[in-house]
Amino acid sequence: MAEPVVPEQAARIFRPGDEDAWRRWRDRKLEAAPRSASDLIVEIANPLAPTQAELAAIADRCRRANLAIYATASAAEDKAIPGGIAERLGLVSLDRNYLSDDDGITAIRVEQDKSGAGYIPYSDRPLRWHTDGYYNEPGRRIRAFALHCVRSAAAGGENGLVDPEMAYLWLRESNPAWAEALFDPEAMAIPAREDEDGIARAESVGPVFSLDDVTGDLHMRYTARTRSIAWKDDPTVREAAAWLLEQLDAGREGVYRLRLEPGMGLVCNNVLHDRTAFAEAASEPRLLYRARYHDRIAGSERSWADEAATQG
Ligand SMILES: [Fe+2]
Repeated sequence: MAEPVVPEQAARIFRPGDEDAWRRWRDRKLEAAPRSASDLIVEIANPLAPTQAELAAIADRCRRANLAIYATASAAEDKAIPGGIAERLGLVSLDRNYLSDDDGITAIRVEQDKSGAGYIPYSDRPLRWHTDGYYNEPGRRIRAFALHCVRSAAAGGENGLVDPEMAYLWLRESNPAWAEALFDPEAMAIPAREDEDGIARAESVGPVFSLDDVTGDLHMRYTARTRSIAWKDDPTVREAAAWLLEQLDAGREGVYRLRLEPGMGLVCNNVLHDRTAFAEAASEPRLLYRARYHDRIAGSERSWADEAATQG
């Protein structure tokens, strides 16, 4: 049995001071990272009863990249498909809000009243890079989410996906001071307003990167929005944020791009994502289900720890 992993081991990798621990983790991470979006896809034969082997293949990708794509042949309007797959992956603590249905799973589709009020997810416009729930208080941190496609758009609606550990790696490799600056507890402030679902909430001030107090897992809180956000008035924080956005928008290696087609879904440890604009046919409006969780995907926790554990 492996040594119990403590948050201090995460700090050795993700905070300054132990360059050897950092390099060992970095090399392993780069070697294990899936090369292309197609490497992320796992076929599930029976969408309501994934097999152990299928679930293990999903967990494997989540351990390497914090995300996986499943593909089923079912275009059914059935929340039990994403809900059931997520539950089998250990995602049980749903983040409910007042707009989600009783089951805690939200239908994402064009809705004129919400999009007219400025809630972009419910429009056909592009969504900029973000992690989910970046405006949440720490006690409601979104550690994972699932997105399931029932109907795709006639054109567009593609997603970009980036593992937060890879975003950290880019920053650390390019300028360690940038990576560290984004741990600043006041790096990013979102003023009190409403969240993307229109729910009133308090001001949210916090870091971009943080390590879980208990598990040490790296968490990322980020949005590329330019309005209703205040980056800390610190040149290093601002440079880091601007540089990161350039990398994301440039689609460098490590940015996966794909479109969820009917029956396909994303399960992830709240990775960075964006969405392109789309056009839909009135007869077949785009429909996705989204579920957010406070847990991380089982079997992918402390994925960074392998090297630290073997080094004692
Ligand atoms: Fe999102």
